[in-house]
Amino acid sequence: MKCDNGTILEQQQMAKDVYRMVISSPITSQMIPGQFVNIAVEGLTLRRPISICSIDEASFTIIYKVVGEGTRRLSKMIAGQSVNVFGPLGHGYPIEADRKAVLLIGGGCGVPPLYELAKRYIKAGVHVDVVMGFDTASSIFYESEFQALGASVSIATMDGSYGCKGTVTDAIQAANITTDFICACGPLPMLKALEQRYTQGYFSLESRMACGMGACMACVAHDAKSADMYHRICKEGPVFPIGRVVLS
Ligand SMILES: Cc1cc2nc3c(=O)[nH]c(=O)nc-3n(C[C@H](O)[C@H](O)[C@H](O)COP(=O)(O)OP(=O)(O)OC[C@H]3O[C@@H](n4cnc5c(N)ncnc54)[C@H](O)[C@@H]3O)c2cc1C
Ligand code: FES
Repeated sequence: MKCDNGTILEQQQMAKDVYRMVISSPITSQMIPGQFVNIAVEGLTLRRPISICSIDEASFTIIYKVVGEGTRRLSKMIAGQSVNVFGPLGHGYPIEADRKAVLLIGGGCGVPPLYELAKRYIKAGVHVDVVMGFDTASSIFYESEFQALGASVSIATMDGSYGCKGTVTDAIQAANITTDFICACGPLPMLKALEQRYTQGYFSLESRMACGMGACMACVAHDAKSADMYHRICKEGPVFPIGRVVLS
């Protein structure tokens, strides 16, 4: 992991309040899917953790939703400006290339880290189904990008304005996807619902973070088997095998 002043190559709006930023930085060469970077935002003390969406030769991509002051300021930056990034941080998704198929499930801003993962699985010859859940049609992003990789894509919207009406589990049922090895990232209720149905695979968790590198214990999750054992989401995670930590 390293701190670097990257250069913004692209910044574009992808959907309602959702932006895609491409950053040129030498730290790209150390990245694996599922890891994140901690981004410094001018005028704010704490860095903002954002998942790595795509890893390319000398640049990486992030996709983020504007939810508060930090992401709002980030969305105002333009190509050519410098942005300080610290990373890559945490443990990403292990690639189980001997699998026949993997089901990638993303909810809202949990979708981005699944993109690089889809690339790696498809390159390894593994069939990839992607199921994405959004609130409404105007929030959807990256459907065609996943399709262009060769993944089979299903979409659920809560209001039924696009794809299957309901949650990602409704879309999985509607598309009759029977793959039992999953990698998922998204809101807690989604992960809890998936934990009831799947035992094989990995979840990426979110938590409020301060240091982002294992020093402050701001982001701990309880171990699922041992009550007095904790895991730091920023350091041992954010990706954990299903069933390793208590989802709370
Ligand atoms: C490992 C990890 C990966 C993430 N990847 C993405 C991503 O790819 N795309 C995306 O849109 N969002 C992602 N998030 C959530 C993102 O970090 C927050 O939305 C962002 O920090 C909000 O900052 P803000 O200043 O706009 O909001 P504010 O609410 O003003 O932030 C106040 C403080 O709370 C923290 N905070 C607020 N919401 C969250 C949250 N959900 N998770 C962690 N800290 C939060 C902020 O970092 C900041 O320190 C990720 C979070 C984590 C932990
Ligand atoms: S944010 Fe400091 S230990 Fe995880």
